[in-house]
Amino acid sequence: MLRLALVTAALFSTLAKAHLGAFHKGMYCLDGPTGKVDLNNNNPVNPLYDLPFEDWWFHHVDNCDNFPPKAGDFLELPAGKDFTVEIASNRAKTSLSYNGKYTSDWVDGEVYPADYNKSPGCITTPNMHTQNQSMAAGTAFAISYQSDIKKVTPDNLVVFSVRYHTPWLRLTKYDVPKDLPACPPGGCICAWGWVPNGCGIPNMYHQAFKCQVTGATSVTPLAAPKPAVWCEDDQSKCVKGAKQMIYWNQKTGNNIKVSGFDRAGQNKSPAYNQKLGFADGAQNDIFAGPPSDGKPTTTAAPPAPTTTAAPTPSKPAEDELEVVCVTRTKAKRSPQATHLARMHRRRAELNF
Ligand SMILES: *[C@@H]1O[C@H](CO)[C@@H](O)[C@H](O)[C@H]1NC(C)=O
Repeated sequence: MLRLALVTAALFSTLAKAHLGAFHKGMYCLDGPTGKVDLNNNNPVNPLYDLPFEDWWFHHVDNCDNFPPKAGDFLELPAGKDFTVEIASNRAKTSLSYNGKYTSDWVDGEVYPADYNKSPGCITTPNMHTQNQSMAAGTAFAISYQSDIKKVTPDNLVVFSVRYHTPWLRLTKYDVPKDLPACPPGGCICAWGWVPNGCGIPNMYHQAFKCQVTGATSVTPLAAPKPAVWCEDDQSKCVKGAKQMIYWNQKTGNNIKVSGFDRAGQNKSPAYNQKLGFADGAQNDIFAGPPSDGKPTTTAAPPAPTTTAAPTPSKPAEDELEVVCVTRTKAKRSPQATHLARMHRRRAELNF
């Protein structure tokens, strides 16, 4: 009993210092980076700060990128719907360990008031890097249409979903754009990112997942992503369309620089929110073109002859004229409409 109490105390004291990560069975490093299953794994939650690109990218600093999920375990992204991950300080505080025995609504298994608020100070238990919910910087998921994690680069990893005012509670939902195309047979690589807004060292979080899009209807690929820029004061300066994740405060590989203060009077801190032009929810503007089902496009129907509707012989009823007009507009669009228009013309010829 004493031993158990000591182990528990040891576990909790580690957790007090812990930060936060996103947990799901489709994540890299679920079991930890040793090859053994660690139910108290908190490697993925360790923040990344002032590291060379090759070390922070997908948490290579502790080898997390070399431990993929079990074969067949994917983070599933239902097109046009949402998916849920568990943001937590430790795997022990998620449903993925101990049958969820140590979970609560919160990220560390404890219970806090719904309006938990330490403003103007910071919430440090758990280490959420925020004063309160409204100040929580925002988190994001990105996707790369590569199955091999080694082929994922900042140039093919596109932010597709953002959740403002997170991390906050454990269960966190992200919306999936309805036009997100299906992944190659080996799945895609996804990434979770968080750049907190002050309240501690201005670090960054970057984790890898194996993911798959379900229920895809469009095959239009994603556009090449651009780095976001600070645009809090002028939304017209925001980068539109596909954006890279935020890479900040590292030795190498950064894609944004800021200086000065934000509107709230704090040091500017780039994050997945409106200050960088990220909308809340599904990023629906990330595609290289309009949605397409990928079926060969039918050759455009020839425009209906311009003379058809001339009411030469005698007074056609007003509604008949209207029908002709409508079918003419439609005839440019689909074979069915063209067929209908032809039938209408034939009928008109026979009648007149
Ligand atoms: C949340 O914290 C910010 C920053 O300290 C503060 O300006 C704001 O008033 C706080 N919100 C609430 C509801 O107290």
